[in-house]
Amino acid sequence: MEVTASAPAKVILFGEHFVVYGEPAIVLAIDKRAYVSADIRKDKQIHINSVNLGISGVFKGESFYEEFGGQKARRTLEPLKIAIQKVLERSKKNVGVSVEIRSTIPVAAGLGSSAAVAAAVATAVGRLLDLELPPEEIFHISYEAERFVHGTPSGIDPTVSTYGGVLLYRKDKGFTQMKVKGEIPLVIGDTRVKRSTGDLVATVHKRSNQYPSIIKPLLKIGGKIALKAVEVLETGDLYALGQLMNINHGLLCAVGVSDASLERLVHAARRADALGAKLTGAGGGGCMIALTKPNKLVHVVDAIERAGGKAFEARMTDEGVRIED
Ligand code: PMV
Repeated sequence: MEVTASAPAKVILFGEHFVVYGEPAIVLAIDKRAYVSADIRKDKQIHINSVNLGISGVFKGESFYEEFGGQKARRTLEPLKIAIQKVLERSKKNVGVSVEIRSTIPVAAGLGSSAAVAAAVATAVGRLLDLELPPEEIFHISYEAERFVHGTPSGIDPTVSTYGGVLLYRKDKGFTQMKVKGEIPLVIGDTRVKRSTGDLVATVHKRSNQYPSIIKPLLKIGGKIALKAVEVLETGDLYALGQLMNINHGLLCAVGVSDASLERLVHAARRADALGAKLTGAGGGGCMIALTKPNKLVHVVDAIERAGGKAFEARMTDEGVRIED
């Protein structure tokens, strides 16, 4: 009776932060996934267990009843409870649910782990309760869960976890699936420095208020880079793509969201002949990405590791959230 669903992580290729101000961003789903198994409970409780994080919680009605993992368990599991409750409401079934999460996505590193888990939770619980939730509903439910985590997120993460592929995303206009010629060989470098997306969004906001005539044009240029990258992705010109990534990283430094740990990995990748390297996501730690020729992937992984990061290759995937057989 148990149902398992999975959803992909993401990397933002272009346009993080600028997207918050209405500029376009390019984001791609990658082959790291969160897996969620769900089963029915007769006692109407919601049990959530994250195997990777070593935390678990039991909810009875609106309130936390029992937890393992203290405040962290509360903060992490509450949004998932919200997602589960929304699906339960739609099903009108008077039951409880147990979910177990196993994820291969680094947490709080800018790879959209929380949205991937939320999308997989909504999908697994939906199928468990015999609902055929359309992708828009899955997106909507995981967006609500994200709102609990991040306040006013742009919606990038739940979109890409739901639909997969490479997306051009605008906050007010939604997304379009993009055509990409060839592969985008990427290495992801995790600084292992934890950070808060909300704080970094606030940093940019503050700098923009302090120097509006300087920062606002930078945000616009960020949008122009993303649009140029759309053309470049259609032709598959990896050299041009790498250059645009380097320019984009410079802008992110200018708006105040890079840090020493990211700079170390970005420069190590460039020294190892990456075609381009930039931070990805909110910055302030978290992850960076390096675009490389396919035959240099191992070399760049090695260079990032030697610079103190945890590095792995990533491939784009067209598969969004899915039920596992
Ligand atoms: O690091 P992440 O995955 O939380 O990405 C944040 C991306 C921002 O543009 C900085 C914020 C957002 O909501 O889009």
